[in-house]
Amino acid sequence: MVFKERQPRAKGVIEAVYSEGGTVSHRLLELHLYPGNQCNRDCDFCTVFGTPKGWYHDYTIDHLEAALRTIVLTPEGTLKFFGGEPTLHPENVIWAIGYLRQREFQGSIVIYSNGIQAERLLQILQSDPLNCTTASLNYSIATGDGALQMPRKSLDLLETYEKAHPGTIAIGHPDIVDSGRGVDPFTGEASRPKVNSRCPHCYPVLTSEGKFHACPFAIENQSAHFQLGDIHTDTAIVTQNFRAFFDWLDTVHEPYAVQHELPACTVCWKHLDQLPVPDDYRSVSCAS
Ligand SMILES: C[S@@+](CC[C@H](N)C(=O)[O-])C[C@H]1O[C@@H](n2cnc3c(N)ncnc32)[C@H](O)[C@@H]1O
Ligand code: SF4
Ligand code: SF4
Repeated sequence: MVFKERQPRAKGVIEAVYSEGGTVSHRLLELHLYPGNQCNRDCDFCTVFGTPKGWYHDYTIDHLEAALRTIVLTPEGTLKFFGGEPTLHPENVIWAIGYLRQREFQGSIVIYSNGIQAERLLQILQSDPLNCTTASLNYSIATGDGALQMPRKSLDLLETYEKAHPGTIAIGHPDIVDSGRGVDPFTGEASRPKVNSRCPHCYPVLTSEGKFHACPFAIENQSAHFQLGDIHTDTAIVTQNFRAFFDWLDTVHEPYAVQHELPACTVCWKHLDQLPVPDDYRSVSCAS
C-alpha cells in the first residue's frame, strides 16, 4: 500500500494565547468540522450513520469564524474536515479553505474522505494557497477490507498523486469502534482491533448546525454529555467544558467501562443514562 498511517498527536491540548493587548485566550490544538452525514456510501460500521439520504448544511462565515476563535491559528493548529463525505460538496470545502487562509489560519487542514471522487479530492487539496491541506482515506474503502473497495481508477489516481507528493494522502486507522452503526455489523478482518475500555480522547467537533460536540465518533449522539456549547458561547466556556468532558472520561466513564467490562464507545452509545453529565459544565447558550 502506497499510503501510510499518520502518528497521532498530543491529546486534549488547550494553549494559552496572548494578544498584543495582553489578554489571554485558550485555544484548542485541533478541531473537527462536520457538515452532516450525507455520503455516497453507507458503510455497515459507520460511526456517523453515513448515507446518501443523510443531512447536510454548507459551512458558513459564522461557523468558520467560531472555528477561528477556538483553534490555535499558528502552523501547529489543525482543522479536520469530515462528514459524511467532503467530496460531495467540493465547492463549499474549497470556499471554506480559502476563507480560513484569508483569515490567517496558518495551520494544517486534513480532509477525511473515502476517495471515491478522487479528482474532486485532489482539487480540494490543490486549492490551498498554503499547500498545507492533506487527506486521510477510509481504511476499509482503500483496502477493500470490510467495505467495497473504491474504484480502481480512483485508487490509481490517488496512489499516483501520493507517489508524486509523499505524505499528502494518508490512510486511516484500521480500528473499528462501537459507535453509530458500530461493531456488530462489521464484516471485515476479525483481527482488526475492536475492544478497548479507554476512550481515545479525540478533539471536539463544530457542526455546521453551529454546535460544539465533544466527540467525532459520537457526533450523531445528541446526549447532553457531549454538548459543549454553540457558536454564540464564549470560547473560554467551550474549552472549559471540553476540559470537564476529559475529566469526566477519566473519572466517571472509564471506571464504569472497566467495572462492566465494556468497550469505551459502547458506554457512550448504550449506557450514558447510567452516568451523570460532567458536573462542572458551564451553562451553554444553545437550546440543547
Ligand atoms: C465517518 S468517516 C467520514 C469521512 C469519509 N466519509 C471517510 O469514510 O473517510 C471518518 C473516518 O471514520 C472512520 N470510521 C467510520 N466508522 C468507524 C468505526 N465504527 N470505528 C472506527 N472508525 C470508523 C472511517 O473509516 C473514516 O476514516
Ligand atoms: S465511513 Fe465514511 S464512507 Fe463510510 S458511510 Fe461513513 S461517512 Fe460514508
Ligand atoms: S468512548 Fe465515547 S467519547 Fe470516547 S471516542 Fe468513544 S464515543 Fe467518543
